[in-house]
Amino acid sequence: MEQYQVVVDRVAGAARCVLLLGGIDSGKTTLARGVVAAGVAAGRAVAFVDADPGQKTVGPPATVGMRVIRAAEDLEAGSLARPDALVFVGSTSPQGQLLPLVVGAARMVQRARDEGADLVVVDTSGLVSGVYGQILKYHKVELLRPDVVIGLQRGEELEPLLGVIRRFFSADVVSLPVHPDVHPTSVEERAANREVAMAAYFAEPLQRWRVRPTVFMPSLPALFDLAQLDRLLVGMSDGDGGYTGLGYLEWGADEEVLRLISPVAEGPKALKLGSVRLEEGFRARRVDLRNLFGTD
Ligand SMILES: Nc1ncnc2c1ncn2[C@@H]1O[C@H](COP(=O)(O)OP(=O)(O)O)[C@@H](O)[C@H]1O
Ligand SMILES: [Mg+2]
Repeated sequence: MEQYQVVVDRVAGAARCVLLLGGIDSGKTTLARGVVAAGVAAGRAVAFVDADPGQKTVGPPATVGMRVIRAAEDLEAGSLARPDALVFVGSTSPQGQLLPLVVGAARMVQRARDEGADLVVVDTSGLVSGVYGQILKYHKVELLRPDVVIGLQRGEELEPLLGVIRRFFSADVVSLPVHPDVHPTSVEERAANREVAMAAYFAEPLQRWRVRPTVFMPSLPALFDLAQLDRLLVGMSDGDGGYTGLGYLEWGADEEVLRLISPVAEGPKALKLGSVRLEEGFRARRVDLRNLFGTD
């Protein structure tokens, strides 16, 4: 559609930070890739920040990933999936993870700038409605200060959120209709995508390390039963505010040891506990750490 191309050409030439907003299957990722490709073609240093922890483009599930695109071939799916930097969100769903999502997206935009990107394209999750959707996106705009926000909507579904952004911020807010060729996915398809992506991340060869119970954030309560951490997803800290990748914990009942399993070659400096447990087939089941710890 003509109006898409007009927006893509305009932002690819002049914008510094573009934030894409829209519900599930509204064409955010496709348009984000289009903006990135047009920016690269225009000779700009472009970075893709993938702040959708569920349906990933850059990095493994449950993360915000950042990739600097230096050449057109970096845009091919297999290449784009490899992050230059990532932040662990803790879950494949934004529910209950608004803080790490917003902070993580801001950190990844900063990392992109540090790497020399002058156009940063930020793709997001489909959580745009309700109080949490608005709070998430409001604070994302507050921290990222995009100069262009592109909203993809069916009918007027995004108007409440776009209205909030227009009133509170000076970003140029562009509204586009969802493209008629967008192919909607089912809840089951999206769940299957997440499982396939998680299983692919945890493909052999895997490293195994013994872990001490003192390395966690949040820290474990006194007398905590370590068996409860079995199959919990964790983020592996690089000790410098970033993450080297994901792992999961395994409780060895026979030897009474806790192990970390991960494809990352180097052992972590510390571990951030996730809010999902990896079940059979790498399906992620939600865990509330407050319930697990029996605290507030
Ligand atoms: N402009 C378009 N033309 C044709 N197909 C599209 C277009 N935009 C998106 N799609 C298809 O629709 C589906 C959902 O698009 P996607 O960009 O992944 O949406 P979102 O990131 O908002 O969930 C994908 O299969 C994608 O290939
Ligand atoms: Mg997407």
